[in-house]
Amino acid sequence: MTAHKPATAAQRWPGQQLPRHVAMIMDGNGRWAQQRGKLRVFGHQAGVATVREVVRLSRLWGIQSLTLYAFSSENWRRPADEVGLLMELFLKVLQKEVKRLNSNGVRLRIIGDVSRFSDKLQARIRDAETATAGNNGLTLNIAANYGGRWEIAEAARQLAAQVARGELSADQIDEERLGAAMTTAGQPELDLLIRTGGDCRVSNFLLWQLAYAEFYFTPVLWPDFGEAAYAAAIDAFVGRERRFGQTGEQVRGR
Ligand code: IPE
Ligand code: IPE
Ligand code: MG
Repeated sequence: MTAHKPATAAQRWPGQQLPRHVAMIMDGNGRWAQQRGKLRVFGHQAGVATVREVVRLSRLWGIQSLTLYAFSSENWRRPADEVGLLMELFLKVLQKEVKRLNSNGVRLRIIGDVSRFSDKLQARIRDAETATAGNNGLTLNIAANYGGRWEIAEAARQLAAQVARGELSADQIDEERLGAAMTTAGQPELDLLIRTGGDCRVSNFLLWQLAYAEFYFTPVLWPDFGEAAYAAAIDAFVGRERRFGQTGEQVRGR
């Protein structure tokens, strides 16, 4: 029997422009567990395997940046025991996965207000980022205690501080300077947002970066999201006509 060969992006989508930066709202873990009569946290644990799988596929398909929404600034409102278990899971996964990320050339970045996390978790985040900083394969951004409005406010604060120090004048503030103060500065523009779990909303994710992203919503719950579901999202993406304000005729060169 011949071994199953992974289909590269060139084989699957010949001649197509694939997204360079994909973001995912990893939703539906709780429902996935509840459907099985288990506690919600069981779904979060199962979701870790999906994270590994989408990282593998993103590397295989040559995607440059993958941004995953792991914990929103609003998720603190959940029951304390679920929040606590999620924090424990972060600690465990960070520790366990760094080696694998390193050997796969993945650069890990945690985006969000990490100052609200325990000292232990903050230290582990710093260690994981430092350990993978020199890698030049996929950039994996994990959004933790992240909110799109927080990010924009934070960027405004940074620029205001520069103005106060006399390094910048207020009229020099433009989209480029604000963009450079966002957590994903220097990475490709966001091309595709995928949300699993069936809800069609953004939940305060990447508000600045979503300006011209394509949106893809799927009812598949995060722990069930795998190669077929991710490939279906890419199929949808390559079938879209991105016009960036121009007409269809202009974009098609007629
Ligand atoms: C997403 O799954 C994971 C986090 C928000 C941490 P949910 O926990 O929101 O799952 P559902 O939406 O309740 O099914
Ligand atoms: C969004 O999911 C946040 C993450 C996936 C981490 P939620 O399940 O918290 O979103 P809402 O509150 O239902 O919009
Ligand atoms: Mg949810």
